[in-house]
Amino acid sequence: MNRRYFLRLCGKTLAALGFAHLLPVQAAAASGTAIRTPRQIITKDIARSRTILWDAPELPATARVELRRGDAVRSFDAAYEWLDLPGGEGLYHYHTTVGDLTPHTSYAYRIRMDMEQTDWLPLTTEAGDDAPFSALIYADSQCSDFSILQNFLDVTMQRHPSAAFFAIDGDLVDNGELASYWTNFLDVLSPYASRTPFAPVMGNHECYGADWNNTLPKGYCSAFAVPENGSTRFPRYYYSFDCGAAHFIVLNTQFQELDGLRPGLHAEQLVWLKADCRASQKTWKIVLMHKDVLAYDEWQPGTGHDGGISDVGNAFMAAFDALGIDLVLTGHMHTYRNRGHIFAKKPANHGPFYIMSGPAGDQRYHVPPDTMYDRHAMRQDNASDFRNYLVLDVDSRKLAVTCRQENGTIIDRVNLEQSR
Ligand SMILES: [Fe+2]
Repeated sequence: MNRRYFLRLCGKTLAALGFAHLLPVQAAAASGTAIRTPRQIITKDIARSRTILWDAPELPATARVELRRGDAVRSFDAAYEWLDLPGGEGLYHYHTTVGDLTPHTSYAYRIRMDMEQTDWLPLTTEAGDDAPFSALIYADSQCSDFSILQNFLDVTMQRHPSAAFFAIDGDLVDNGELASYWTNFLDVLSPYASRTPFAPVMGNHECYGADWNNTLPKGYCSAFAVPENGSTRFPRYYYSFDCGAAHFIVLNTQFQELDGLRPGLHAEQLVWLKADCRASQKTWKIVLMHKDVLAYDEWQPGTGHDGGISDVGNAFMAAFDALGIDLVLTGHMHTYRNRGHIFAKKPANHGPFYIMSGPAGDQRYHVPPDTMYDRHAMRQDNASDFRNYLVLDVDSRKLAVTCRQENGTIIDRVNLEQSR
């Protein structure tokens, strides 16, 4: 029995048993061939709106999304952006945001371009307000073999079918300017992101050009129309959104890569971060950003030593303490580390809890433990099961973070309780 036949047999069996919702759809999911990689992207409030994106090689007369609830169908015209990256054919990226949605409701949507259309795909809104939810956090999906990422998403997304959204905490692809990486990545992502909202985070690899020098992240910014941040210099570089009782803040840690090309990213984010945090009334404030607050064995310019707090840590940690951030989730080092409240001064006024996780892809690093800060480190001597991900379980009082390996083994669990 070959693999394709086996997967088809599994699919038929799941459908016969009434578990069809667990099956990934094909990337195009269309009766035609022009509509590629449909995906739902996170919006400011995923209980009430959603952004739908897709790619196409052509510019049709009409491009729109139809949203169905019962017999009522609403239509939303799409905007497009043309992107031509090295090694690719050039693609139009289409996007539109469907709004005025009712929380805790099942919709269906389909994409239409002239005479072509996708199948109806599910779009489910969260309950909103402070309703409990779960979410999946991946990191570092960069791959040389994308079938590995596909298998990882297959196994883990089916393990948690009710996740409100999933995020990848940076380094989505190995090179952000080569078209083939984005084509392969979006082909793998689409079966899941077409039915579960996706929250992207920009990593340093999204800022590498085809010649491996630093470049502006055109591929990332075109692929993901994330919520607006009000910036004219750095739109789509950083953003925030709400889910249940949590306010998520997606920061950009790529100062080193981008300052020579477009300076000012760190200073602009600090101003935005303070305003964004203070405007939110949500119980939990959770930061997602790619690079970690510890340097491990990397040399830190200006400090005269290796390791300790990284340049990214020095750039943000004081602000996190001052703004009452509860949890900071990072990637970049391709391993799991629990560091607790690094700057805990007293129990009633501690800084955020810091957790690093990943990878989701096939790039394996060996990272020495930080003997001062690491409380729990995943063993790295198991070459076959080093991939890991986080499950967030959130309500208005409790926030649980569970790190699991691909096979489901729990590596660590952190429980935070709201005290304010
Ligand atoms: Fe990285």
